[in-house]
Amino acid sequence: MKNKIITLSLFSMLLFTGHNANSQTVKAKKQNKTAVVKSLTSEFDAKIDKLVAQMTLEEKIGMLHGNSMFSTGSVERLGIPELKMADGPLGVREEISRDNWSAAGWDNDFATYYPASGALAATWNTDMAYTFGNSVGQELRARGKDMLLSPAINIVRTPLGGRTYEYMTEDPFLNKKIAVPLVIGLQDNDVMACVKHFAANNQETNRDIYDVQMDERTLREIYLPGFKAAVTEANAYAIMGAYNKFRGEYLCENDYMLNKILRDEWGFKGVVVSDWAAVHSTVKTLKNGLDIEMGTPKPFNEFFLADKLIAAAKKGEISEDEINIHVKRILRVLFQVKAMGGQERAKGSIATEAHYQDAYKIASENIVLLKNDKNVLPLQLNGIKSIAVIGNNATKKNALGGFGAGVKTKREITPLEGLQNRLPSSIKINYAEGYLERYEEKKSGKLGDITLSGPVTIDQLDPAKLQEAIEAAKKSDIAIVFAGSNRDYETEASDRRNLKLPFGQEELINKVREANPNTIVVMIAGAPFDIEAIKNKTSALVWSWFNGSEGGNALADVLLGKVNPSGKLPWTMPKNIMDSPAHATYSFPGDKTVTYSEGILVGYRWFDTKNIEPLYPFGYGLSYTTFAFENAKADKKSYAENETISVSVELKNTGKVDGKEVVQLYASKSDSKISRAAQELKGFQKVMVTAGNSETVTIQVPVKELAYYDVDAKKWTVEPGNYTLKLGSSSRDIKKEIQISIK
Ligand code: BGC
Repeated sequence: MKNKIITLSLFSMLLFTGHNANSQTVKAKKQNKTAVVKSLTSEFDAKIDKLVAQMTLEEKIGMLHGNSMFSTGSVERLGIPELKMADGPLGVREEISRDNWSAAGWDNDFATYYPASGALAATWNTDMAYTFGNSVGQELRARGKDMLLSPAINIVRTPLGGRTYEYMTEDPFLNKKIAVPLVIGLQDNDVMACVKHFAANNQETNRDIYDVQMDERTLREIYLPGFKAAVTEANAYAIMGAYNKFRGEYLCENDYMLNKILRDEWGFKGVVVSDWAAVHSTVKTLKNGLDIEMGTPKPFNEFFLADKLIAAAKKGEISEDEINIHVKRILRVLFQVKAMGGQERAKGSIATEAHYQDAYKIASENIVLLKNDKNVLPLQLNGIKSIAVIGNNATKKNALGGFGAGVKTKREITPLEGLQNRLPSSIKINYAEGYLERYEEKKSGKLGDITLSGPVTIDQLDPAKLQEAIEAAKKSDIAIVFAGSNRDYETEASDRRNLKLPFGQEELINKVREANPNTIVVMIAGAPFDIEAIKNKTSALVWSWFNGSEGGNALADVLLGKVNPSGKLPWTMPKNIMDSPAHATYSFPGDKTVTYSEGILVGYRWFDTKNIEPLYPFGYGLSYTTFAFENAKADKKSYAENETISVSVELKNTGKVDGKEVVQLYASKSDSKISRAAQELKGFQKVMVTAGNSETVTIQVPVKELAYYDVDAKKWTVEPGNYTLKLGSSSRDIKKEIQISIK
């Protein structure tokens, strides 16, 4: 078996050339830890052939579809087990009943709740992505599963997307840099990642029927790079086909996407699993590249790839050889993760203190400091006797909630509990719920009704609750309002209706501020909200997420200064929804067809190119210290196409406390012959610098990263000429520019 060996701490600087599905060894300058990227082995092919030769048609077809909600059929007489799956992006989902969506009611399926994917991306730390994958992978093994239905890496096209929290970012480069180590970490545990939802699945509204139309360059440059890297760099063993259509064909029977791009171009050798009930045909879906049909409750033999496939095979509409191709793929991944027996397999562990601490580490690196006038934060506790903790989000739990995969956990530290854990007992906490999470049931539609827009909230404050909050604020030295949303409001199966902060929270914040000018606002949410008015009125504004089992402790540590915040926004926060590209071009949510009229100008690419000021830009996040960028330079002036640009900068911590900064590198080509975004992220690195000291940060940019997709030539092309490389602490806070040229 050939493998890739990579050095984890250098994920962002290296490593992969990205065009080779085969394994390779990469040497890194600084060898900390090494991980092995396993390619799918062919060493079991002879055994696989032998097994397939002994199988009946019915046994083979039994492996191609769900025989329970989260497993495929086994062939016990030949020692072939079920392929066992579990969601998902927040950690290993609780056990679901075999034949319906209700929880199985086990008492040993508690797991660690990890920060949601958007929160992981906000760390801008590739080591954290590996930690995440590896930790969840161990939990998956401990639950006896083979495949995690994760990571979810669809591009955040609209801030209103119901699954924004579950996805990573609006930027394809950040997406792939987080997805790759996550998949590697996961698959290090004898399990498979199932990277989802392939592809162009960027909204929930009408997700079962809509047809995405976009130009080829946009597909290649924006919507595919994460998936491509997961396949060619991380060797993901499985991909999930999405619900919707792409250019007229459902994604689970899309020859162009599954056969031509995924398998022929990228060399994918693993299995394609359908999203649940996303299959629409029998012979076509198999011929066009799907391997496993999963679905929602109905008798499993009624699936497209069950009795109907047996009948089709018997009528000669599909040959047994063709069916064998899919069976062999499934057997290959089962052997790969040592599910076939005869090999010692990772045993894993679940809900351990070590895993809770992994969740803590990720949470403590993703909290974003949005505003901090006069250094209000970290809280200075001298002379402070009481703190008002206000807001339903101070106690709201998000491990479960809404429609879609969550985690059943024994530990979810809320923001209130975090403060109780971390504040000295001499400080009194005056808690008031402040606002109620309430919905207008009639207008909200049925949970899971994907053709309706998201829940309609009741935005009138309850007078008694408001009064309680005002009194708590008045009698306290400081007030902290925990605002934002939750996983009932931001949910799979519907998109939000607008960016408005729900449940009357804006009014609550205003009233609390009037009662106590020392008011800080902490947002807990997974997607952008309109917080401009709040920003303008509060001196300190912090952004946290659906942030895992230890989220409350991490948040308290940031508020109290034990942890210096270092998270950066993984998407643009617009001032107005109509400033966002999919909305400005009136191409969301479409109807039966959704045309991505903004093309490549997704997220900050749109805002920067059209000169629209966002509320907070992509990559934004403050620190309790300050940084200076000095002596920025590239190692040469001119580069050939197969070379790598090495950019270095001295990052000086000019403040009084130690802190981490994310050095971001954007590339621009102002005199380009083709239309381009004003700038694009091409590198980043997160670095710890102690107060008063400097670190040299080196970012490697393979020249190939500067390529655009040339549709006529059907290939990635690097345009020769001058480029500007911009180094900054966000997409809109560029500190240094370097000119280079490409020969
Ligand atoms: C979601 C997938 C998920 C599957 C199984 C679908 O509704 O789109 O992300 O893995 O359900 O729970």
